[in-house]
Amino acid sequence: MHAFSNGQLTENKSIGFVPTMGALHPGHISLIEKAKSENDVVVCSIFVNPTQFNDPKDLENYPRMPDADIALLKAAGCDLVFLPTPVEIYPDGAQLLDISFGFMEETMEGAFRTGHFKGVATVVNRLFEIVQPTTSYFGEKDFQQLAIIRKMASMLKHSTAIVGCPTLRESDGLAMSSRNLLLTPEQRKAAPLIYKAMEMAKEFIPHHSPAAVIELVKRYIQKSPYLSVQYFQLVNPETLEDITNWEEGTAVQGCIAVLTEGPRLIDNIRYTV
Ligand code: PAF
Repeated sequence: MHAFSNGQLTENKSIGFVPTMGALHPGHISLIEKAKSENDVVVCSIFVNPTQFNDPKDLENYPRMPDADIALLKAAGCDLVFLPTPVEIYPDGAQLLDISFGFMEETMEGAFRTGHFKGVATVVNRLFEIVQPTTSYFGEKDFQQLAIIRKMASMLKHSTAIVGCPTLRESDGLAMSSRNLLLTPEQRKAAPLIYKAMEMAKEFIPHHSPAAVIELVKRYIQKSPYLSVQYFQLVNPETLEDITNWEEGTAVQGCIAVLTEGPRLIDNIRYTV
């Protein structure tokens, strides 16, 4: 992988990179297409990274379908698929990056998935070292992850540009995710309530405080017996600090995690106050 990238860079070719954990869906393919439109070559990695799973069951259940993924990537015109083994990524064992993201890794996902972002930052750092991308593409669905990766890349002085790409949704509004494959038919039917509720909040914002909007969104989703909101937070999109008062003209990110009896679902939405 490293030699391939060295060869491309020596020829002054740009490398677009899409890191994934596989079980690819159209959201991933939209990243490949964006990378393709902006670079000479496109590399996609598929690696189910053990260090970012705090629940061994979640790691075990994570969908794996490399043959179907490779077929999709071929059809999308991806030039190289990198499928490393854990030993190739972690030759000295899974040693986590020794850097702190402070509050950014403790809030929201960080509060419920201890160590998750250290694992994400560690693997993405390794992948950047190996692939040496010119530009790397990440979905905005994992909003907090994108913020952490930007911070890691800047702290460790990676030269890659980082591009966030819009979330792709099913026709009923559910954010595309590899984990949707694990939903039962009943959970799948209920899941679009998540985005619907966050969209509805746009109407509540002019007349309610942030705390009241949060409650209304939670209540709306929890009308379904299949969904339980773990958190819904309204945050500053840069610092991820909670918003307690509306400030006219500012952007606010609504970030949510919802538990089902199966997979845990996350999503987010941008509001302009
Ligand atoms: O978003 C993902 O699929 C993963 O967290 C990533 C960025 C590929 C790191 O393992």
